[in-house]
Amino acid sequence: MFGEELDRVRKVSKETGCESWTSLDYQNHILNYLMENRDRGFEGVIEIGCYKGGLSAMLGFICQQFKWPFFAVDIDENSILSTRRLLSSLMLLENATIHHGTLASFARTAVLKQRPVLIILDGDHRYEAVVDDIQMVYSLNKLPLAAAFHDYSLRHPSSGEKVDQAVKNCFGDWPIQHIGALMDGTGPYPTRERPAEDGHWWDVPGYEGALVQLPSKLTNMVIEPQPVLQRKSLLSSILRRLGAN
Ligand SMILES: C[S@@+](CC[C@H](N)C(=O)[O-])C[C@H]1O[C@@H](n2cnc3c(N)ncnc32)[C@H](O)[C@@H]1O
Repeated sequence: MFGEELDRVRKVSKETGCESWTSLDYQNHILNYLMENRDRGFEGVIEIGCYKGGLSAMLGFICQQFKWPFFAVDIDENSILSTRRLLSSLMLLENATIHHGTLASFARTAVLKQRPVLIILDGDHRYEAVVDDIQMVYSLNKLPLAAAFHDYSLRHPSSGEKVDQAVKNCFGDWPIQHIGALMDGTGPYPTRERPAEDGHWWDVPGYEGALVQLPSKLTNMVIEPQPVLQRKSLLSSILRRLGAN
């Protein structure tokens, strides 16, 4: 469904340098999840951390087709500008709200009319930040059906990225579905033994992403105190990895 249209959205994103940082596998899983759940009374998608807008354009397209609201949130002004420009060039701004800030500031102001199908958490990947974001999801006026996470098993020597641990500690033995690329030590993904130039690598065995159909309450959270790390700017770490500076 929408194969050709989504290919066109990807093509425009690529041509304008706004391609999503996520794999095709991850994107397809997310998009299929939206299509599979389109008739259940849930409406809308929220993306936290839209960067240049590559994934936002696909999400915005699906939301436009289903007459759902789409919300893109980013702390970085250039990311907001880029996402707005890309959605505008694809005529996808009509049902989109682009919020400059964090999930916390979005949750304080947003009034969701229906429960969204999905919230994608792809902003700050540090352990405490992911735990905060997951708790913040529960302060939205309507709880999304599911949450997706990116950079799930990603590690960095100094910036404390540990999405997987935060997700497991927040949801306990609640089901977590792994999505996107499998990190098995083969393929193009850096490993601990072969890290990328900026030092990041993927834990093996590991996963690019995860999807959790949200429990109505967070009941079994076990939060681990994290070692104090040399605090590099998270944004500069992300931007270095994305090759933007
Ligand atoms: C890995 S990129 C997101 C990639 C994007 N989802 C895609 O598919 O192309 C992470 C983004 O999160 C943003 N970010 C970092 N911390 C954030 C926070 N606390 N709240 C919102 N956005 C944040 C960064 O500015 C950056 O644009």
